[in-house]
Amino acid sequence: MTSNGNVHVITHPLVQRKLTSARDARSPSEVFRRLLAEIAMLMAYEITRTYPVDPVEVKTPLGTATGTELRHGITLVPILRAGLGMADGILRLIPQARVGHLGIYRDETTLAPVVYYNKLPPDIAETDVILIDPMLATGGSSVVAIDAIKQTGAKTIKLLCLVAAPEGIARLTTAHPDVAVYTAAIDSHLNEDGYILPGLGDAGDRIFGTL
Ligand code: PRP
Ligand code: URA
Repeated sequence: MTSNGNVHVITHPLVQRKLTSARDARSPSEVFRRLLAEIAMLMAYEITRTYPVDPVEVKTPLGTATGTELRHGITLVPILRAGLGMADGILRLIPQARVGHLGIYRDETTLAPVVYYNKLPPDIAETDVILIDPMLATGGSSVVAIDAIKQTGAKTIKLLCLVAAPEGIARLTTAHPDVAVYTAAIDSHLNEDGYILPGLGDAGDRIFGTL
C-alpha cells in the first residue's frame, strides 16, 4: 500500500491483476461482477487490518484459548447502484457487518449528485463505517454520501473505491479531510462527460448489464 496523507493506494499484486481484467472492455458482465467482488474482498482485508480488537476466551475441545473479537461493529454503505457490486465480496469476508444503503445518481448534464434513497442502520454511529463505490469521479456522490453518514453521528468512516480521479480525490479530501480514502488506482483525469480516463467505463452498467 502506498499513502499520501489520508489517500491510500492498494498495490497488492492480486488486486492490481484483477483490476487490469476489470478494466478490459472485453470482460462481460458476469466476469466484471466476479472481479469486482473479489477485489472488494481483498481490499477490505487490507483496510480492516488496523481495526481495534479486544481479547476474548474461547473453549477448545481441550482447553481455553485467548483470542480476539472486533471492538466495534462494522457497517457497509454501498452507494447504489454500483456499490452493490462491491458489497457482496466484502460480506463474504465480514458476514456480521450491517448494510446501509444510499441511492445516489449523477445528473447527466450537471453531474451533480441526486440522493433518492437513504436507509442507514439506527446504531450506525457506534460502528466503523465503510462507504463503498467503485468510482470516485468528480467526488460529488461520495461527498454527499459522507454528509449523510456524518449526520447520524458516525465518526469512523473510510471510503473504499476501485478507481479514483485526481479531481474527485481533491474534492473529497477538501470536504472531508478526516475520511481515509482507499483505492486500487488513481487515474489520469475526467473527460468532458465526467468519466474517468482510462477508467473502466460505467461501473453500474457493466455490473448490471444495462449498457
Ligand atoms: C456512478 C458511480 C458513482 C458516481 C461517481 O454512479 O457509481 O456513484 O457515478 O461519480 P461522481 O464521483 O462524479 O459523483 P451513477 O451516477 O452512474 O449511478 P449508478 O451507479 O446508478 O449507475
Ligand atoms: N461513474 C462511472 O461509472 N464511471 C466513471 O468513469 C465515472 C463515473
